[in-house]
Amino acid sequence: MNDNLMKSEVENEDEGLEELSLRPQILNEYIGQTKVKENMKIYIEAAKKRKVALDHCLFYGPPGLGKTTLSNIIANEMGTNIRVTSGPAIEKAGDLAAILTSLSDGDILFIDEIHRLSKSVEEILYPALEDFSLDIVLGKGPESRSIRIDLPHFTLIGATTRIGSVSTPLRDRFGIIERLELYSEEELATIVKRSSKILKVKLDEESSFEIARRSRGTPRIANRLLKRVSDYALVLGNGSGNLKITKMALDKLEIDELGLDNIDKRILEAIIKKYNGGPVGLETLAATVNEEVETIVDVYEPYLMQIGFLARTARGRTVTMKAYEHLGIDYSTSRLDGQLRF
Ligand code: ADE
Repeated sequence: MNDNLMKSEVENEDEGLEELSLRPQILNEYIGQTKVKENMKIYIEAAKKRKVALDHCLFYGPPGLGKTTLSNIIANEMGTNIRVTSGPAIEKAGDLAAILTSLSDGDILFIDEIHRLSKSVEEILYPALEDFSLDIVLGKGPESRSIRIDLPHFTLIGATTRIGSVSTPLRDRFGIIERLELYSEEELATIVKRSSKILKVKLDEESSFEIARRSRGTPRIANRLLKRVSDYALVLGNGSGNLKITKMALDKLEIDELGLDNIDKRILEAIIKKYNGGPVGLETLAATVNEEVETIVDVYEPYLMQIGFLARTARGRTVTMKAYEHLGIDYSTSRLDGQLRF
């Protein structure tokens, strides 16, 4: 097993204790994602009734929506162990072989960012997923021979922010494929209230909703904002957060009323000011705002599209009139037909 692999596992364990304690442990504590939850309840119960391992699961959707949390919950509900790693941490076929042979029947192997597995590692995974077997080639050249090792009946849970980058042969080997959606304001407010009880912060109803509104549909962001608000509440409000304190904390973080941060604004303003509102190709846009294409696609676009500020067209990204209004830019005078502004 290589250092990276160990590091990734340590990093996962190293996540702040506070962060871990905010994570729900069972499905009934998990707020939102109703469709996924209802489906998983049935699949888990059926697997338990049949006394077999749960079918392999692939969860996809933007970051911070609870793919890892859900996987840990599934392990709890199934009463099995979970082994956590990630696509880039498994560098060689041998790394994966070492993990697979260390599992027990029913165990869950969670691979985050599964779209980043290398081809050679993926190929080891196919027979492991399909037949619970491992084909190992011993030696090189004409003397080499292949042996087949039986593996325990495990469950692979893969998580990815980019379903389109998961190869078709890998995707086809998952029996359960579920998409996680951005959370509603109500769901996020409920999560904030639950987390504030765990963190022992007194927060009124309107403050919970204020945090929810600015969390761009993402529980990880809601919990992060809550912690900063709780710092302000502790120092300025004797431990209680009201709307004034909440707004002050969130404004200081430069997160606007819709949850947009400086990078969201840079993306929108670049399209408006430099490309006349779009369409502009993704690569060009990424270079203009000095961000990775992956960051724009995975982190920024989903929310900007959900709130109707950004549209994807065949010719590139365009900004909608709603975004102009939010940024206080006049739609009619800022658009110069057919001309680029620099
Ligand atoms: N904390 C983070 N995500 C959560 C969720 N979906 N439900 C409850 N608490 C959470």
